[in-house]
Amino acid sequence: MKLMIINGPNLNLLGKREPEVYGKTTFEDYFKQLQEKFPDVALEYYQSNIEGELISKIQEVGFDYDGIVLNAAAYTHTSVGIGDAVKAVETPVIEVHISNTHQREEYRHVSYISPGAKGVILGFGLQSYDLAIQSFLS
Ligand code: DQA
Repeated sequence: MKLMIINGPNLNLLGKREPEVYGKTTFEDYFKQLQEKFPDVALEYYQSNIEGELISKIQEVGFDYDGIVLNAAAYTHTSVGIGDAVKAVETPVIEVHISNTHQREEYRHVSYISPGAKGVILGFGLQSYDLAIQSFLS
């Protein structure tokens, strides 16, 4: 099982960024925990702050990998391009969010990713990624 986690803008600052919303753990530390928890999964991680790079990565892995776990972060609410990429590829995409975006500002209630996603997991903190990986294993 080959899975790619793709994180969008500002998620490189996890641990420092608004810890009351996103927690105090860096994604690098959490990624190590995921690798230890799922030793049989070939788990990879990619982060970019640039919309086009996220689209290129989705295209690159989206005909080969078994699953993509995508937190497009702020681009979730704005990017027709990333939404189209999710629809264009064959690999199933699970949309994840750390926070419950529906409890937050209204502009975060819209997702351009959800229509093309296999499923959506949000509001469980970093555990949202763990739950998304588990969904590919069941
Ligand atoms: C986020 C929610 C988005 O609204 C926000 O722009 C992010 C992170 C989350 O994981 O909770 O950067 O995707």
